[in-house]
Amino acid sequence: MIAVTYERPGEPKDVLNVTELPTPTPNDNQLLLKMIRIPIVPADLATIRGLYRTPQKTPCIPGYGGIGEIVSLGKNVTGYEMGTRVMTLPFKNPGWTDGCWCEYICLEESEVLPIKHGRIYESGFDFFNTPLTAYVMTVDILNLSKGNTVLLTAAGSNVGRMVLSLAKERGFSVIGVVRRPEQVEEILSLGATHVICSSQADITQKAMEYTKLKGVDAVLDSVGGEVSTQCFKALGDWGKMIVYGLLALERNAQFDIRKMLFYNLDVRGFWLPAWWKHTSLQERTEAVNETLNLIEKGVLDVHVEKAYRLEDIKEAVSHAERPGNSGRIVLDP
Ligand SMILES: NC(=O)c1ccc[n+]([C@@H]2O[C@H](COP(=O)([O-])OP(=O)(O)OC[C@H]3O[C@@H](n4cnc5c(N)ncnc54)[C@H](OP(=O)(O)O)[C@@H]3O)[C@@H](O)[C@H]2O)c1
Repeated sequence: MIAVTYERPGEPKDVLNVTELPTPTPNDNQLLLKMIRIPIVPADLATIRGLYRTPQKTPCIPGYGGIGEIVSLGKNVTGYEMGTRVMTLPFKNPGWTDGCWCEYICLEESEVLPIKHGRIYESGFDFFNTPLTAYVMTVDILNLSKGNTVLLTAAGSNVGRMVLSLAKERGFSVIGVVRRPEQVEEILSLGATHVICSSQADITQKAMEYTKLKGVDAVLDSVGGEVSTQCFKALGDWGKMIVYGLLALERNAQFDIRKMLFYNLDVRGFWLPAWWKHTSLQERTEAVNETLNLIEKGVLDVHVEKAYRLEDIKEAVSHAERPGNSGRIVLDP
């Protein structure tokens, strides 16, 4: 089979190779998936650079997840049938080896979820990274509704666009933050009440002005560094901040403890695989079902910017980080 591999961490377009490998054979407890569609997400690229949470043991195949079809079953697998389409679950242990940027992968039953029909049949490849992440943060954790204002960094990202869709559905307001002035109008057209361009204005100052000095109820930040510092300063009384990404690859930010103390602030991280592992089955099932409903209603609509073959991986990873993408870059093995 064809697989994307890398021998050592580095710039994705430099270190990734296309390799011919033997097609894996499932053991008695595994199913063999033919991968159908795989999103290229920031976590994949940060992992290849060696800058994400769980470094892979190299040489290896990268890729956190996607959708595939079952083409072979181990003899102890009872809950699945040949031909079923499944999404791979977002959990990887420290020291994980091979991912899914390849034609075939062996997984256990507990590592996949079936998809039967509906919009999710096509869009399930991005389910965990984008719709579920946006849903859990805005609804389960922050419980945002009419009257609340959230300050959203990287507002043009796929997760950011989902938060904007949820804002329309639930009635909360979004002050978007983008880094390029040419993106301001687009994010306003997606429903943000205001958009701050971080390369042109101070985020704190603008957010305070837009909230009439009250500060925002919540921050959703996936950038980190100085952007996190400025967003933190814009939190109002009892404000909540979730840090869920490292786009600037800058791990340090400054949070004033005095402000945290006297404003009763709640600042926390969010990483979906850890959330998945540590929440109850009931809580996970409710969040998954609610998110699926919103996908089927068309509220959370996954958009593909361009699909690439595995053979064109260098072009695909370059495109995934090109400014101005409004949908997901995917691999169709
Ligand atoms: N914690 C979790 O469980 C979880 C789950 C899913 C996603 N995430 C995180 O959510 C974030 C968004 O993911 P995504 O898949 O939606 O991303 P995406 O669609 O690939 O979009 C990336 C976005 O980030 C912006 N960006 C890139 N580098 C930036 C920087 N240094 N400063 C400011 N903006 C920058 C880009 O803006 P331009 O258009 O200007 O290039 C683009 O809008 C990522 O950090 C990802 O790791 C976290």
